[in-house]
Amino acid sequence: MRIAVLISGSGSNLQALLDEQGAGRLPGSVVEVLSNRADARGLQRAADAGVATTVFDHRAYDTREAFDAAVANHLQRLGIDLVVLAGFMRILTPTLIAPFAGRILNIHPSLLPDFRGLHTHERALDAGVQEHGCTVHFVTPELDAGPPICQGVVPVHTDDTPEALARRVQAQEHRIYPLAVRWYTSGRLTLADDGPWLDGRRLDAPVRVHAEDDVDAW
Ligand code: GRF
Repeated sequence: MRIAVLISGSGSNLQALLDEQGAGRLPGSVVEVLSNRADARGLQRAADAGVATTVFDHRAYDTREAFDAAVANHLQRLGIDLVVLAGFMRILTPTLIAPFAGRILNIHPSLLPDFRGLHTHERALDAGVQEHGCTVHFVTPELDAGPPICQGVVPVHTDDTPEALARRVQAQEHRIYPLAVRWYTSGRLTLADDGPWLDGRRLDAPVRVHAEDDVDAW
């Protein structure tokens, strides 16, 4: 399977995927890293791993749809099977989603459906929740509302800061994203009838992963 990873920034989740691939645990390969920002640090991570990179600067396009059409055409020309959004700070339109329906994954830094949108760690602390985390989900046109596949769950401590909580959540992102991509590329995970299916069974709720779980064998 040919994987494209779309980024806008640091690319630590991209790195986790590249590491998974480097360890021989990904039945598929990241063949393209695309960024809407030329200064995204993740582009260097891709180059260091010998993966092709492309920058599509969204400011060069008049509309969201025009940008999405350019990206979709590019990914289709490359024969991409799976699109992995990893900190890609763009709201996607159906122009990009439709050609890859059921083949786009995103990771969001909250336990969806809680805290869609931005500043999730601050909002989780303000809300006084005891658990927080991250969610890998299939992408549908409604922002952060696609069917959830798995969640990394972390405790919230009484003296937490947004930064400390973010670090704890990101450590789980780097475990559950490679896991979900591995599931997808090995044919164990699909989207059908608006829901995620894993190993032939519909997931009524996302798979919950805790820090102490050993996900390598999952
Ligand atoms: C992550 O926190 C992810 O949940 C969100 O964007 C951030 C990307 O971080 N969608 P990185 O670029 O992978 O380090």
